[in-house]
Amino acid sequence: MDDFDLRGMTVILRVDINCPLRQGTMQIGDDNRIKQIMPTLRELVEKQAKVVIIAHQGRPGDWDYCSLDQHAHLLSRYLGKKVRYVDDLYGDEALDAIRSMSPGEALMLKNVRELSCEQDKKGMDEHAQEEMVQRLASVADLYVSDAFGAAHRSHCSLVGFQAVLPSAAGRLMEKELNALSSVFDEPRRPCIFVLGGSKFSDSIKVIDRVLTKKVADFVILVGLSANAFLKARGVDLGQDSEEILSKEFTPENLEAAKVLLHERGEHILLPLDVAVDQEGTRLDLMVDDLPNDFPIYDVGPRSIEMFCDVIENAGTVFMSGPAGVFEREEFSIGTRRLMEAAVRSEAYTVIGGGHTVSAAENFGLYSRFSYVSTGGGALETYLLGKTMPVVEALKAAYRREQGKKRSI
Ligand code: 3PG
Ligand code: MG
Repeated sequence: MDDFDLRGMTVILRVDINCPLRQGTMQIGDDNRIKQIMPTLRELVEKQAKVVIIAHQGRPGDWDYCSLDQHAHLLSRYLGKKVRYVDDLYGDEALDAIRSMSPGEALMLKNVRELSCEQDKKGMDEHAQEEMVQRLASVADLYVSDAFGAAHRSHCSLVGFQAVLPSAAGRLMEKELNALSSVFDEPRRPCIFVLGGSKFSDSIKVIDRVLTKKVADFVILVGLSANAFLKARGVDLGQDSEEILSKEFTPENLEAAKVLLHERGEHILLPLDVAVDQEGTRLDLMVDDLPNDFPIYDVGPRSIEMFCDVIENAGTVFMSGPAGVFEREEFSIGTRRLMEAAVRSEAYTVIGGGHTVSAAENFGLYSRFSYVSTGGGALETYLLGKTMPVVEALKAAYRREQGKKRSI
């Protein structure tokens, strides 16, 4: 955004303000993503751009697919200035509204997911042929992408405009990519990854990647990922816990976990003890005392102590996935204590993922992390080292504009 003189420019601002809604009332439950795009919106408005916001909420057919008028309402409240909602995307109503804007105004268009091309995975050039891109680009000067949360999607409004308009990353996109680069590119040592949650097939790939590339010095495993690795080490967890694991635990995953333990075992820290739910009560027991008939819902106190020690002495900490069923007070101890250790340390700390962020909010620790990512699927894609179509499209637009400047 620093590269452009924004005054009077018509800017298409694509954001990801896809928010969790309250079932029943359909009201926005958590508006964090809206708050996080405010620096970009505020800067564009203050610099006298005409800001045309495009966003999505849910997908057609899903219960959380709805109009964006309440999103516009919240944007207006945080901006302290009306963000008009226009119930059209690229028809005459939308184009007339855009043409009649004054510098320093912002408006919000209809939920872009009503378009079928918005769910098609295509390249930027192909998407650029769509009527939405053609018509909106004809009245715009610049495209700004602040949609980090959707950066793993190659949908029309996310990658198509970069083919036809000069384009820039918004402030949130910039912050997200800088934070991830601080973890992945030159992390302060030691760099500790704490991985938990329930998607351990992804965790296996992430562990492999961060250890092979020597991003992480140690990976601490908690949650179901830890259980999966304990099982790979030959531990019999007990019927309930094994059943919970079984959904995602394919023979390939088991093999991959075994190979990782064999080749990189000294960099993978597993729990020494766990907490099971004994008919509604927390019972701590050593891993050596497994199997147990009750399900494992948290890591135990000795593991917490050992992990906190590692985290407190870290230079960089990245956390994704809770350590246990933190929604229940008695099983929230692991997640809470590991987070407390992270924010107490001198380390650069980054957390991400819907559950992890909501745990941090519940514990009142949100603002004490160095960075909290708005990405769920996008963050996972980044962690797995896959390309991010939105970032690639921004880079392509940048190279094209630089090329034009050189040829002048
Ligand atoms: C998300 O919340 O995951 C992003 O907004 C992308 O939405 P999607 O998962 O429906 O594509
Ligand atoms: Mg999603």
